[in-house]
Amino acid sequence: MSGPSPVKIRVEGLFKEFRTKKGAVSVLEGVDLEVLTGEFVAIVGPSGCGKSTLLNCIAGFEKTTTGTLLIDGAPVTQPSRKRVFVFQETGIFPWLTVSENVGFGLFDRSAKERDGIVAKNVALVGLEGFEKAYPAELSGGMKQRVEFARALAVESDVLFLDEPFGALDAFTRLEMRREIARIWKATGKTCLLVTHDVEEALELADRVAVMTRRPARIAKVVDVNLSRPRDSDDPAFRALKDGIFDFLGVERRV
Ligand SMILES: Nc1ncnc2c1ncn2[C@@H]1O[C@H](COP(=O)(O)OP(=O)(O)OP(=O)(O)O)[C@@H](O)[C@H]1O
Ligand SMILES: [Mg+2]
Repeated sequence: MSGPSPVKIRVEGLFKEFRTKKGAVSVLEGVDLEVLTGEFVAIVGPSGCGKSTLLNCIAGFEKTTTGTLLIDGAPVTQPSRKRVFVFQETGIFPWLTVSENVGFGLFDRSAKERDGIVAKNVALVGLEGFEKAYPAELSGGMKQRVEFARALAVESDVLFLDEPFGALDAFTRLEMRREIARIWKATGKTCLLVTHDVEEALELADRVAVMTRRPARIAKVVDVNLSRPRDSDDPAFRALKDGIFDFLGVERRV
């Protein structure tokens, strides 16, 4: 048996304030979070509390004010190709085909290598047969698959997902949730997901980190010790969901 997974991401006492014309706005106030290699962690919290800011800091897009932020033991100072954001479907280029979009980040590879990587990832996200299609010919869910394939193609080891299903209709959202679970399992990547949707977080994550209102901390981390695929009607699932809703002060729906 292998030992415990090493820590991939370590956040300790992270503070972030934005300087605006009206003065400093404190957004993150002492965030602690640890994500293990290959783990799926979801972050939920009240609207505007600083979830996207936290993800942007961890990805290296925002400078932090103070605190420790390490990936693979090294301080994060800038974005890296090893860690990619999966955007909503709007991130793909309408003038490129599916294959061209997926291969977009592979400019340093030979054409043969690139073709192989593109084919592998197009298949992984279930878009075989659509290689030559343009985004306008695809549904919202298919465009999101292209976005995923492109993120996977650069052989990143961390995926950052900030409300990645926001632009999708309810049915496609559910379908893409299942797809993410499958892709995560198939690739073993470390995933950090920000979502408003507590049920989505519980369906996907090994652990759910719950943030407070701004200025935010992570107030509690919920272990989701339920086998996959998860059933939102399972009493154990509901108990975890109710616990998080209670914590967030949201009225419980029966
Ligand atoms: N560049 C910026 N300059 C000033 N303030 C900012 C900046 N970016 C974010 N903020 C502020 O930081 C706070 C947190 O924003 P953030 O987008 O991280 O929240 P969020 O939890 O992702 O919100 P949502 O649930 O709406 O996606 C907000 O009050 C926002 O106004
Ligand atoms: Mg956000």
